[in-house]
Amino acid sequence: MLLIVYHSQSGTSAKLAKAALEGAREQDEAAVLARAVDCGSAEVSRAEGLLLVCAENSGRLSGGAKDFLDRVFYPLIERKLTLPYGLLVSAGNDGRGAVEEARRIFRGIPFTEALEPRIIRGQADAQALEDARELGAGFAAGLAMGIF
Ligand SMILES: Cc1cc2nc3c(=O)[nH]c(=O)nc-3n(C[C@H](O)[C@H](O)[C@H](O)COP(=O)(O)O)c2cc1C
Repeated sequence: MLLIVYHSQSGTSAKLAKAALEGAREQDEAAVLARAVDCGSAEVSRAEGLLLVCAENSGRLSGGAKDFLDRVFYPLIERKLTLPYGLLVSAGNDGRGAVEEARRIFRGIPFTEALEPRIIRGQADAQALEDARELGAGFAAGLAMGIF
């Protein structure tokens, strides 16, 4: 089961996360979408893969996404849980700082990078939503086939 965790302040990351869920559910009806604030290590431990969707704020991960990773970091290390993860960053004009920070944290748990991190810049327009849907579908399909 793919767990899609998101944090969104303006709603853009939320739209992308919902599109990713739609794509994931085409492959696996059990895929789950959850707000970062509602998720902890127990929810992550029930998943087979984790897709984190959030914004870049001030060159780093958005606060809600960072809070989620800070809360699950040591509990997941203690559980010796290693999951494949994906990253979808919503950004105004950059996004690379958030990707770098998330990668560093995931390496420390350690989770394995299943997909190349995706940055979607600007509004959640039709193309952005399609890209997010494809990302979710690809991740869920890979999990179902056992290739991650
Ligand atoms: C406080 C703040 C800081 C931001 N900093 C960056 C930034 O460093 N780089 C960037 O590309 N976009 C930046 N943005 C733009 C957001 O990443 C972008 O609007 C994103 O789509 C917001 O998604 P969300 O609010 O749904 O999470 C910033 C937005 C805010 C509100």
